[in-house]
Formats: sequence, structure tokens, C-alpha cells
Amino acid sequence: MPKILVWDWPVRIGHWLMVGGFVLAWLTAESETFRLVHAVSGGVVLAVATFRLPWGFIGSRYARFVDFVRGPIAVKEYANSLLKLEPAHHVGHNPAGGWAIMLLLGLGILSGLSGWAIYNDIGGHLFEELHEGLASAMLTVVFIHLIGVFSGSLLHGENLVPAMLTGRKQGLPEQAIPSARPIAAVLLLLWVAAASWWIAS
Ligand code: HEM
Repeated sequence: MPKILVWDWPVRIGHWLMVGGFVLAWLTAESETFRLVHAVSGGVVLAVATFRLPWGFIGSRYARFVDFVRGPIAVKEYANSLLKLEPAHHVGHNPAGGWAIMLLLGLGILSGLSGWAIYNDIGGHLFEELHEGLASAMLTVVFIHLIGVFSGSLLHGENLVPAMLTGRKQGLPEQAIPSARPIAAVLLLLWVAAASWWIAS
């Protein structure tokens, strides 16, 4: 099968900004010196996740939730195909990965909001516990996500990681998205920059 355009720019840029923000937030979580870096990187995760929600309704074909948020039957069928080592091919996200993505977005928003509250002296000790719990839950889902990405890449014989950079995956020409949506990507970058500036000022 030829390589076709599947992931638009907002999905790709948003993904790698989220990865950077999440890693930096973890590395600076315990530091007083880097408190601002921690707050801004958490803000980047929050900004990307809040942008991704409307993009899940108005984005390009494979960015839409309707394309990859599937019910338990579809998830079970996909899991069975994996167990038989004959995984069903999905041009966009697979039904199991789709739920990990929704969890990551939800946890990104909740941990970002609770962190913002703590940074502004709202919520006290309870919010601190909540923030830590949410961040740990997110780390667990990130590990599951990575296991899914690497095992999926092996089982499908297609490396999914470069696809998140180039936007291109195997598929039929008629399954390609017509545009990488560059203007929406500029809006995403402006949204992330505005959130970072707002937190830092
Ligand atoms: C170096 C580590 C990572 C790699 C290599 C990676 C790779 C990928 C790949 C290949 C996909 C597409 C999966 C598919 O084809 O269905 C994906 C999607 C996704 N990943 Fe990661 N990921 C990493 C870390 C993370 C982290 C740390 C987060 C969150 C904090 C994250 C959140 C997401 C989200 C939300 C999506 C869905 C993208 C969208 O539809 O907008 N990833 N990742």
C-alpha cells in the first residue's frame, strides 16, 4: 500500500508539544528553582489538550473522535485480532489506542487545571494530592500508550512513530486527507503561546 497523508499538522504539532510539556513537567515536578518551568510546561499540556477537544469535532477525518472513539465491541474485536496476531488495520487510531488517547487528553486537562489552581494558591493540600495522583495516572497511561505504539508498530509491520512526524501512513489513495490544515496549526501555536505567556506573567 502507498503512503498517504493521515495526520494533519495540528495533530502532529500538538502531539510533540504534549510530549515535550509532559516530560519537562515531570523532570521539574519536585524543584522549587524550576517551579515556573514546571507551571509553563504543564500549561503547554493543558493548552494542547484543550485545543484537541474541538479539533476532535472539526478537525480532519482521522483527527475526529467519531473516527476512533469506538464502543466495547469494536475494542474487543480489535483485541481479538491482536491475540490472533492478525491485527485489523486502521488507517487512523485503532479502537484500543483511541481510549488511551481520550484518557491522556482528559488527564492532561485535569492535571493541568489542578496544577494551575495550586500555582495560584487555590485548593490547598487536597489539590496537591489530587494533582500528584492525576499526574501519576497520566504517567501510567503514557506507558500503556508507548507499549501500544511499539507493539502495534511491530504487529502491523509499520513504524507508527515517524508517521506522527511526517503525517504519512500506509493506506489507499482515496483514504488520504486532502489538506494538512496549516492555518489551524498556527492557531494551535498561538493558543499554546498565549497560555504560556499568561502563566508566566
Ligand atoms: C516518545 C514518546 C512517545 C511516542 C514515540 C509517541 C508516539 C505516538 C504515536 C505513534 C501516536 C499515533 C498512534 C497511532 O498511530 O494510532 C501517538 C498518538 C498520541 N500520543 Fe503519543 N507518543 C509518545 C508520548 C506521548 C506522551 C508523553 C503523551 C501525552 C502526555 C502522548 C499523547 C498522545 C496523544 C494524545 C495521541 C493522539 C494524537 C491525536 O490524535 O491528536 N504521547 N503517539
